[in-house]
Amino acid sequence: MSVSKRSYNNWVRKYAACRLNRIEIAMSDKITIALSKGRIFKETLPLLKAAGIEPLDDPETSRKLILDTNRDEVKLVIIRATDVPTYVQFGAADLGVAGKDVLMEHGGEGLYEPVDLNIARCKLMVAGRKGEQANGTRLRIATKYVNSTRRYYAEQGKQVEVIKLYGSMELAPIVGLADYIVDVVDTGNTLKANGLEPLEHIAAISSRLVVNKASMKMKHASIQQLINDMQAAVK
Ligand code: ATP
Ligand code: PRP
Repeated sequence: MSVSKRSYNNWVRKYAACRLNRIEIAMSDKITIALSKGRIFKETLPLLKAAGIEPLDDPETSRKLILDTNRDEVKLVIIRATDVPTYVQFGAADLGVAGKDVLMEHGGEGLYEPVDLNIARCKLMVAGRKGEQANGTRLRIATKYVNSTRRYYAEQGKQVEVIKLYGSMELAPIVGLADYIVDVVDTGNTLKANGLEPLEHIAAISSRLVVNKASMKMKHASIQQLINDMQAAVK
């Protein structure tokens, strides 16, 4: 064998060993990923699959809150969408997937937000009764997005009373609980079905991969690989 052929083969062997080593290191860290049931879970599945992660149970049918995956070291925790940033912030999960609406409300403390997954796309909007304009001096706004709503009106120098609700916001203007609502809108069908219309656009929303800041340092190789694989699968 010629010298150059031998040195090429040595190089290939070394390169393969490096790759294997990197993958071994990357796969040895225990990783917990926080997801919510429903659209985020469903739309994240193909992205996880692209990263070589497949859950062994379906949260829609299983009562388990911790799901095993095809990779022993990777677990999924199934929690409320609004709790995802909190689990990741405090390191109870290393990573998570959360809507930008939820992240804006949470504030993002202790989190990196490395990938826009471009899933669960919608808009955060102000909506009100169709064809009507509120004329009180201090508007009442019903929403579950209390912080984002306060920030939005404060930026416009408007004083408003924010009423915290946990769901079915569309009802509030109909029964006179509030002048307007702040909620996410996709097709607009829910607003329309309740005699409301979208009025002001606050923010474009999609779901983001979030990472605990300490995990990013301590489990860097595994997490960076996951980020790269998911990023590559984003449409
Ligand atoms: P929780 O159960 O904690 O109140 P949720 O009911 O908002 O949360 P989902 O309905 O699963 O949970 O919504 C998860 C995310 O999907 C939201 O944070 C938002 O970013 C996005 N989303 C909500 N509604 C829609 C919609 N109609 N179309 C597209 N994306 C949406
Ligand atoms: C969300 C949101 C609106 C609706 C908007 O509810 O709270 O009610 O979607 O979507 P649309 O513009 O396409 O009608 P969701 O479907 O998540 O129901 P839920 O909040 O009761 O889970």
